Amino acid sequence: MERTFAIIKPDAVERNLIGKILERIESKGFRIVAMKRTKLTLEQVEGFYHVHKERPFFKDLTTYMATGGPVVLLALEKGNAIASWRELMGATNPKDAAAGTIRKDFAVDIEKNSVHGSDSPENAAFELSYFFSLTEIQP
Ligand code: PPS
Repeated sequence: MERTFAIIKPDAVERNLIGKILERIESKGFRIVAMKRTKLTLEQVEGFYHVHKERPFFKDLTTYMATGGPVVLLALEKGNAIASWRELMGATNPKDAAAGTIRKDFAVDIEKNSVHGSDSPENAAFELSYFFSLTEIQP
């Protein structure tokens, strides 16, 4: 079993897509081991995305995630969860996303791309511990 960290981004929450996205997650065999709906601060978001600090889109990304509205934070569990969740999300830019993926079906554009997922075991461990306490994600 592996765990990964996911976010349902502001554009999807705003369009009432939480249920539809959770339905896809559960029907692919993930167990939702922790979940909270919250509004992120700029400080929280800048810390979360620190690996992208030097990227040209850093300001757009962090402003969007902090001011775009509430998000849903998720800890997901499944065999091969990290790769499996990224496959279900689809490519970063919805124009490049494969048919049947969440981003293909729901994302608006490369910024409002509906979901986030950890890209490695190291980042999953960091991201899970960044938003969930040990007691929230115990087995
Ligand atoms: S990834 O997942 O790291 O391979 O994707 P990457 O393309 O490197 O993008 C990292 C995150 O930045 C977001 N992004 C953008 N946001 C706003 N505007 C622009 N132009 C843009 N380009 C990329 C992308 O959605 C990734 O966010 P997360 O939350 O990790 O999905």
